[in-house]
Amino acid sequence: MFIRNAWYVAAWADEVSDTPLARRICNEPVVLFRDHAGKAAALLDMCCHRGAPLSIGKVTDLGIECGYHGLTFDAAGCCVRIPGQGRIPERARIRNFPLVEQDGFLWIWMGDAAKADTSTIVRYPWHNDTENWPHKHTMYAIKGSAMLMVDNLMDLTHLGYVHGSTIGGNPMTHVEAKMDTVRTPMGLKFDRWMLNSLPPPPTYEP
Ligand code: FES
Ligand SMILES: [Fe+2]
Repeated sequence: MFIRNAWYVAAWADEVSDTPLARRICNEPVVLFRDHAGKAAALLDMCCHRGAPLSIGKVTDLGIECGYHGLTFDAAGCCVRIPGQGRIPERARIRNFPLVEQDGFLWIWMGDAAKADTSTIVRYPWHNDTENWPHKHTMYAIKGSAMLMVDNLMDLTHLGYVHGSTIGGNPMTHVEAKMDTVRTPMGLKFDRWMLNSLPPPPTYEP
């Protein structure tokens, strides 16, 4: 069960290039790629011809070319080329997902595209100011329910104990952090203030 009408981080913006990237989001196969203009796009990772994953194809000037028989689809999922055939049927198209590049992330909408309101995407402007807010990023595949991950990240009092030798630092700075919690139309937002505490060392590995 997934909430589909919501924005999800599909990838870091710098993970996606003109080499297709396969990812499973809300249990659906998705292919992410950048077209010739550098614009990132997300399509269902399943060719409408014979079902091959588009992610094992390649990006050309026209779009993403299926590695099975060469049908090519643009960033909107419309078929733009069928080798050996001039006529392109109307229904030769792939499901396209709304995708927004913002603050170093690619945000995807897996639900009803008509309801995708980009103003509801969580902002994280610090990613755009790497001089004052340097950060390191990566992606982990976690074998477990996404709900457990949300639960984990909202319970940061464990940091001083589970991660005592890395990001945990002094356990009491985590336990005593001041929380500003606000209900939002979509859920909950909290700011967590750990005043006068040193940030974790820049070289940390979890
Ligand atoms: S399966 Fe994609 S072109 Fe045939
Ligand atoms: Fe943890």
